[in-house]
Amino acid sequence: MPVLKKQLQPFSDAVNGCFSRGAEAYDGHALLQRAIAARLGGLSRQRGLILPPGPRVDLGAGSGLLSRALERGLGGDRFVRVDQCGALLRQEAEVPQLEWDLNRGLPPQLIPAACLASSFALQWLEQPELQLGHWCDRLKPGGWLLLAVPTSGSFPLWKDAASRAGVPCTALELPDAERLIESTQEPLELHCLQRLRFSRRNPGGLPFLQQIKTLGAQASRGPQLSPGQLRRLLRSWPGPEQAILWEVLLLIGQKR
Ligand SMILES: C[S@@+](CC[C@H](N)C(=O)[O-])C[C@H]1O[C@@H](n2cnc3c(N)ncnc32)[C@H](O)[C@@H]1O
Repeated sequence: MPVLKKQLQPFSDAVNGCFSRGAEAYDGHALLQRAIAARLGGLSRQRGLILPPGPRVDLGAGSGLLSRALERGLGGDRFVRVDQCGALLRQEAEVPQLEWDLNRGLPPQLIPAACLASSFALQWLEQPELQLGHWCDRLKPGGWLLLAVPTSGSFPLWKDAASRAGVPCTALELPDAERLIESTQEPLELHCLQRLRFSRRNPGGLPFLQQIKTLGAQASRGPQLSPGQLRRLLRSWPGPEQAILWEVLLLIGQKR
């Protein structure tokens, strides 16, 4: 009898499975994502961005937090919500949306785009710097990119706790801010560049890992920790005097 080898699941399928399971709870728990969407929406209004005609697209739109904030900020046409996770897209009704894996590039019917927006999604794709360069190439001249993405300076507490415990850190590897900025410099004129740091209360190891899971954001490229490794990680997790840190790159640029 032939021996069947277990097929390795592509990472984007694992990501999709996790976000699908967390879809109903996402909107109510994604507080940082909601705040960042509101910040991008506010900046788009304050800076009076004028968009050329053409598709406005939210890449990795999830439940539409960023689309709604930008629609309030900019007025005019609706954003097309693009995401591979149908369960998250279905959290909104009667809006333009498309189920699509962004590792395949952008949907051809939406390019060249007048506006590409994305928040907290680029880090889930293969080779984020390359994807970002590709997004810039798919903008119309005069079109806008509005981006927010967590970057590699995030979660020092988690990395330190894992290293003290002698277990792998299962946090998603986040892209380097400098390299992301570099990939936008030639195609875009940058109008706003912010490297933000957010400090959140450290609720303890297990509640923190549960918060990540509730959002559906627990997919990891490495193997899951064994129960023994998890116990060691939790024993090394510091108390509430050390906060959870997020480093977020926010960037607004116009295609030259
Ligand atoms: C943390 S959520 C952010 C959602 C939304 N942008 C927000 O700010 O609330 C990450 C989103 O990226 C989407 N995503 C991850 N990998 C993707 C891929 N390969 N193609 C399309 N969407 C993807 C997930 O399904 C999820 O909706």
